[in-house]
Amino acid sequence: MSAFSSSPRSSWSNRWAYIMVTVGSSVGLGNIWRFPYMTGSQGGSAFVLVYLVCVLLVGIPVLMAETLIGRRGRGNPVSSMLNVSEESGRSPWWAALGWTGMIGALLILSYYSVVSGWIVNYVWKFLTGFTVLSVGEAKSGFEDLLADPLSLAFCHSVFVALTIAVVARGVVSGIERANRVLMPALFLILILLAVWGGVTGDIAGAAHFMFDFSPEKLTGDVILSALGHAFFSLSLGMGAIMAYGSYLRRETSIFTTSLWVVAAGVLVGLFAGLAIFALTFGFGIQPTEGAGLILKTLPLTFAHMPGGRIFGLFFFLLVLFAAWTSAISLLEPFVSWLTERMGWRRPLSAWVSGAFSWAVGLLVCLSFNRWENARVFGKNFFEILEFSTSCIAMPLTGLAIAVFVGWRMREAFVREEIALSPKVFALWYGVLRYFVPLAIGIVFVRESGFLGW
Ligand code: TRP
Repeated sequence: MSAFSSSPRSSWSNRWAYIMVTVGSSVGLGNIWRFPYMTGSQGGSAFVLVYLVCVLLVGIPVLMAETLIGRRGRGNPVSSMLNVSEESGRSPWWAALGWTGMIGALLILSYYSVVSGWIVNYVWKFLTGFTVLSVGEAKSGFEDLLADPLSLAFCHSVFVALTIAVVARGVVSGIERANRVLMPALFLILILLAVWGGVTGDIAGAAHFMFDFSPEKLTGDVILSALGHAFFSLSLGMGAIMAYGSYLRRETSIFTTSLWVVAAGVLVGLFAGLAIFALTFGFGIQPTEGAGLILKTLPLTFAHMPGGRIFGLFFFLLVLFAAWTSAISLLEPFVSWLTERMGWRRPLSAWVSGAFSWAVGLLVCLSFNRWENARVFGKNFFEILEFSTSCIAMPLTGLAIAVFVGWRMREAFVREEIALSPKVFALWYGVLRYFVPLAIGIVFVRESGFLGW
């Protein structure tokens, strides 16, 4: 038993509830919006394959390690890191990992909610009878939205307010209740969309694009993006899983729940990818459309589908829910710090943290139009935020988590949390200690151009 488990703290109601909230955090725009567009712009199957390998060999071990820190530390990301490192006699500086995570999560939330705002806008469009008849119309529907900072900012604000409202209510009555209903509904509708994509679209083309491996497309960029996406899609490295793990009961198995969470995320991504590429190819749209891919492809599909307006409405509503349950987990780490450490009431903490992400998000809205040409290294503000959080901060904090749990925490404590048979434990521990740091390290050294690779 950990020395820190005596303080009264809320817990998820049961294992199912924990799986649902963590799946809720992990399954989001990352799987439905980001995965298809990254696959489309990063060479298709090469990206998919490296992503799957990264999820399996890096994602699962780090997910377990991060959950373990949260559950053993029983606090917000900073105090969890402090508790756990103190318990193993290590430097309190490890708490810096909690800080980078919490701040990083708020920065991710700032652009995440702008993109979610696009979805809010499409829900509204479908509610009011939006339909498009040609590829050109579908594209301009999205491009008009991007060109209009006021609409972007309005939808972004609606989404941030929704997120704050749930987090302000607390863990069980807010976060848990929302997730238990929304996640199963999302699965159902994705399966329907994939079946529809299979019946009407070019499913063979989609499968070929996603799974026929072509080694010549395997570049350093593809590998770094796939690694970053594995972290992004599993919500790793930003304190979110640590915060959720801190409400996890001791009797729940970290290993089994992690496998469930990963399986759900990967399946949603693959289903969404197949459906979306089948439809994209069916309509002769290029898969390299970038961040607007699903917003350009899907409205056209729904226009040609019997009952498409209703189906489209449902689909975008559920994407919105998926985004919402993820955004909640991005806000929670800092909110838990403000309430526990500063003694603020939860609603106040939620509004203050949310306001920070909201303000940064306003700049993101401008980066699509007024400030489109303000670029650093060819990237606008949105792209800079996205790249620096998901391709740099997440893998590096993941690396630090692996080093901490693998090398700095006492093995006995680690064993206590990860109660597995000796063989499976040894396998996980070995991968976490050797493979994960090496793999991330090599990708970074290579990408930074060091040694002239
Ligand atoms: N995983 C989410 C998605 O795929 C995004 C997300 C939620 C996230 N919480 C996170 C990403 C924490 C990194 C860290 O949409």
